[in-house]
Amino acid sequence: MTHEKILVIDFGGQYNQLIARRVREHKIYCEVKSYKTPIEEIRNMNPKGIIFTGGPNSVYLDNSPRMDREIFELGVPILGICYGAQFLVYGLGGKIEEANDTAEFGRTDCEFDKKSLIFKNLKKKSVVWMSHNDHIATLPEGFRAVGHSEKCPYGAIENAEKKFYGVQFHPEVNHTEEGFAMLGNFLYNVCGCKGDWTMEEYAQTAIREIREKVGGGKALLALSGGVDSSVACKLLAKAIGSQLTCIFVDHGLMRKNEGDEVEEAFAGSGVNFVRVNAGERFLGKLKGVTEPEAKRKIIGEEFIRVFEEEAKKIGKVDFLVQGTIYPDVIESGLGDAAVIKSHHNVGGLPDYVDFKEIIEPLRMLFKDEVRKLGIALGLDEKLVWRQPFPGPGLAIRIIGDITPEKVTLLQDADAIFREEIAAAHLDRDINQYFAVLTNMRSVGVMGDGRTYDYTLALRGVSTTDFMTADFSRIPYDVLEKVSTRIVNEVKHINRIVYDITSKPPATIEWE
Ligand code: XMP
Repeated sequence: MTHEKILVIDFGGQYNQLIARRVREHKIYCEVKSYKTPIEEIRNMNPKGIIFTGGPNSVYLDNSPRMDREIFELGVPILGICYGAQFLVYGLGGKIEEANDTAEFGRTDCEFDKKSLIFKNLKKKSVVWMSHNDHIATLPEGFRAVGHSEKCPYGAIENAEKKFYGVQFHPEVNHTEEGFAMLGNFLYNVCGCKGDWTMEEYAQTAIREIREKVGGGKALLALSGGVDSSVACKLLAKAIGSQLTCIFVDHGLMRKNEGDEVEEAFAGSGVNFVRVNAGERFLGKLKGVTEPEAKRKIIGEEFIRVFEEEAKKIGKVDFLVQGTIYPDVIESGLGDAAVIKSHHNVGGLPDYVDFKEIIEPLRMLFKDEVRKLGIALGLDEKLVWRQPFPGPGLAIRIIGDITPEKVTLLQDADAIFREEIAAAHLDRDINQYFAVLTNMRSVGVMGDGRTYDYTLALRGVSTTDFMTADFSRIPYDVLEKVSTRIVNEVKHINRIVYDITSKPPATIEWE
């Protein structure tokens, strides 16, 4: 990749992804690397600038994360944030001490020296987000203070000649009023970046690179219809066309019309598109099964079997394409940051497919960047903005045993819910919303008659990471309309409830 590049060195801080995101929002390509990365590797990456993240440790303790001091000899501008600033100071011979009564947490007023390149054209006084137990006690030679708070004389420091900067606060979080602009000043004024990172350009580069890598070889992709695999498919289609075969296993547990939408988007795109309509086969295996984990297991296993059968028909391929995205890479790769997501995707794939190498074309992108790439590639907006959908599909949204009738019933009800949420323009605000067919029936009255029919539950959550979630406050009039339509239009549902639990203690899905 020939883009100008910023390197974020991860010291275990909880905001490391956020820093990378902010840099990319400034249209500059950026990668996160562990502090353990060898200096040679860093030099070879030829970064325009380096950012040290925060971290939970005290830099003066024996086993705290530290980098080779050669990092200061590269001639590359450095911005240290929080722990990163302390490491900068410590590494260059200054002193860090426990702050005792000068520790600061949360919103703090700070005053800046506007002559410093990183505060140029910003307000003299603004609010920043502090979170530190330690503080800078003595500056290394060549440094001066360029920002302070009431308790913290070295809130921001610089060695302008060497292009080294440090801030005790977190410019990457929104609570720091001018944080985004401060980062921009570092990137543009100090590192001399131009901001050449656009999705269109990224797409062109990626296409070129994929072509070079694949040559005349064959590639295989498992298409789920989710955002990541759809964007990967579109990218590969543009790059290598009919050298790609994508297999879409339709397990019959997709949302209403979803299978057809996926087919429509890809069948004519120049790739070898294989749709396996395996609905009956999956439902056969699931017959009478009520236990949630058993359902998941059956679907996972069957998925692999179907995929395997199709892959065998194709024979040996050179490349297997996977839709891994950057947060997965960071979470499983760097190891020092806190949260580890438990991935529960259907069909862990590889071992049974005969291939040489894996291609992960989205490996460096965040979710919203994947969507932007999808748009840049001309992928249907419906697919680009698809909300997350669990691999086992509606099987885990039908409580109890699954029958074809129940699947249809849930598909219809869920489609109405989605239509109304979109009509109320809430579809981009609520992160995930869907209907659940409970296994409970209750008495109702319709016309003059008694009914004894199913209760349908509606669920809507707002979340950033799907690890925790809050139930969405969907306006009552929207809920009312959904409820009225569903009981009128979908037979055998006579009662609608709205799930008002958050995660934890509940999970997002019901099973
Ligand atoms: P839970 O129910 O664990 O869901 O709060 C968190 C997020 O993960 C999705 N989910 C799955 N995704 N395969 C997937 O690919 C699965 O088996 C699966 N189970 C849950 C869920 O929809 C939510 O977005």
